[in-house]
Amino acid sequence: MSGPPGERILVTGASGQIGTDLVSELRKVHGRENVVASDIREPDHESPISDGPFTLLSVLDGDSMESTIHDEGIGTIYHLAAILSATGEAKPELCHRVNVGGTVCVLEAARDFELKVYAPSSIAVFGPDAPKIAPQKTPLNPTTMYGKTKVTGEILAMNYWKQYGVDVRGIRYPGLISWKAPAGGGTTDYAVDIFRAAIEHGHYECFVREDTRLPMMYMDDAIRGTISLMDAPSENLGSSRAGYNIGGMSFTAGELVDAISRRIPDFTCDFVPDIRQSYADSWPDDVDDSVAREDWGWKPKFGLEEMVDEMINRLREAQSS
Ligand code: NAD
Ligand code: SER
Repeated sequence: MSGPPGERILVTGASGQIGTDLVSELRKVHGRENVVASDIREPDHESPISDGPFTLLSVLDGDSMESTIHDEGIGTIYHLAAILSATGEAKPELCHRVNVGGTVCVLEAARDFELKVYAPSSIAVFGPDAPKIAPQKTPLNPTTMYGKTKVTGEILAMNYWKQYGVDVRGIRYPGLISWKAPAGGGTTDYAVDIFRAAIEHGHYECFVREDTRLPMMYMDDAIRGTISLMDAPSENLGSSRAGYNIGGMSFTAGELVDAISRRIPDFTCDFVPDIRQSYADSWPDDVDDSVAREDWGWKPKFGLEEMVDEMINRLREAQSS
């Protein structure tokens, strides 16, 4: 099956952490009916994505993907379906199958239907040998299966762009912090889970050490960056188009606890590192995002203090409504 591109947008993996925010924003911009959310699991009833079109779709099912694209008049795919790092290290075969197989399926469909594609990468592409402030260009030697699948995703995206002219773009997201949906099985989940625990229980058991420093970003910045990259003229995007570094903030788990404690004075946190510590240790402290700033004008808005204020206020509002 093939055909000319339609006008509507398909989001894969839409029921997850990023999809919950991205679908809402895309619907504000393009109209509710023009953004088709999809996943292998239905969104929760209270999820903001329940207000528009949704279809059950596995990114491993190429035939269903092509018929959805054809029947729904799709022109752009935001491909979010993936297995994240913690689940991915526990189930490496599944991680490889979904992350690499799903991306091939999306890129093949994009080639047949002349679609534009957004396929996110991650700071997990960097391995322990990368500089602690990771440059845009450096050897990518991740030690996690998840990171390896993200490097493969970037390579595949560049191949489809160069060989077949598929307009595919991506960002190496830092750990994303948001309040609308829970984090989905990653190593950076502590920076999300800690807020709900602080508000509901006044206590959190953190699975990385206090001195663990990672690049992080508030979801609003990530969504703004994603849409802004997709809106950028293709000719502005250079050889990093499949995986731009973008920086937001960089803090240790201890600094995050301190920032929360300044707002919730009785909050306590124990640090009980588990296997996820080793994944975190293999990633950089921060990223150099000068290429994204230069190519398409990336600039973050949220630092640690603004993010912590937003998270606590929004979660409290949601709790009382
Ligand atoms: P998530 O785990 O919250 O959501 C992923 C969704 O994919 C889930 O809803 C899951 O049901 C769905 N899914 C799994 N297998 C599927 C399949 N076969 N077909 C269709 N859907 C399937 O993940 P997220 O945080 O929303 O991440 C989205 C993308 O962003 C992923 O590519 C991830 O690697 C990347 N990313 C996320 C972060 C972060 O901190 N959240 C950071 C870096 C990169
Ligand atoms: N936040 C993601 C994870 O921890 C990084 O890509 O898996």
